[in-house]
Amino acid sequence: MTKVLFVKGNPKSTEQSYSLRLGQSFIDAYTAEHPSAQITELDLYEDHIPLIDAEVMTGWGKLAQQTELSHHEATKVQRLGELVDQFLASDLIVFAVPMWNFGYPPMVKAYMDAIAVAGKTFQYTATGPVGLAVGKKAVIAEARGGFWSSGPAVGMEHSQSHLRAFLGFLGVTDVEVLLAEGFAFDPSKGEEILAEAVARAQQAVKAQPVAATI
Ligand SMILES: Cc1cc2nc3c(=O)[nH]c(=O)nc-3n(C[C@H](O)[C@H](O)[C@H](O)COP(=O)(O)O)c2cc1C
Repeated sequence: MTKVLFVKGNPKSTEQSYSLRLGQSFIDAYTAEHPSAQITELDLYEDHIPLIDAEVMTGWGKLAQQTELSHHEATKVQRLGELVDQFLASDLIVFAVPMWNFGYPPMVKAYMDAIAVAGKTFQYTATGPVGLAVGKKAVIAEARGGFWSSGPAVGMEHSQSHLRAFLGFLGVTDVEVLLAEGFAFDPSKGEEILAEAVARAQQAVKAQPVAATI
């Protein structure tokens, strides 16, 4: 059975968000094609995603020294461990994310910080870094107000390019990016832009070989 992790990186409700609707459309198409897939949702604005703050840093230091963590330190460190284990247990990770100020909302970065764990998802070797989260696929469903995928402004884009490079660092190199651009240019075209991206999402599902560990 394919384990799919649907990561929602937007504080809006699905109805009000093009990126969440696009991501949900991919999930719906995937489920229709692979009815036995197990879908788990992770809402980065509703579920507990600890920031790597002073308590986490202190907690990690205490773990290394084998001294007792405070309740808050232990809670955050344990939750970070759960998040990386959930990521590692997934075959397909689907991100639904809006472009915000050329990158992604801060909770998406918090999630990236949570799952980048030396010895679990990557390791440094004598010949350089090696990703340990191999054999997975990822899909990035991203909505943008403007157009940043081509032309002179392409260098301003630090959203999918960052997440894609980051996933590659962890060993997830099979990444499909589903972009929906230009929502702010002509709001009357919003549904049309989304419908075109949803059609690409449905095609992507048809083109997907079933994930490795079924
Ligand atoms: C805080 C914020 C920052 C944004 N920054 C950008 C940006 O840098 N580039 C862009 O093209 N659109 C930007 N937008 C517009 C969103 O990408 C656009 O509204 C998109 O549809 C958001 O996806 P959503 O409908 O899923 O929320 C921004 C929107 C917000 C709320």
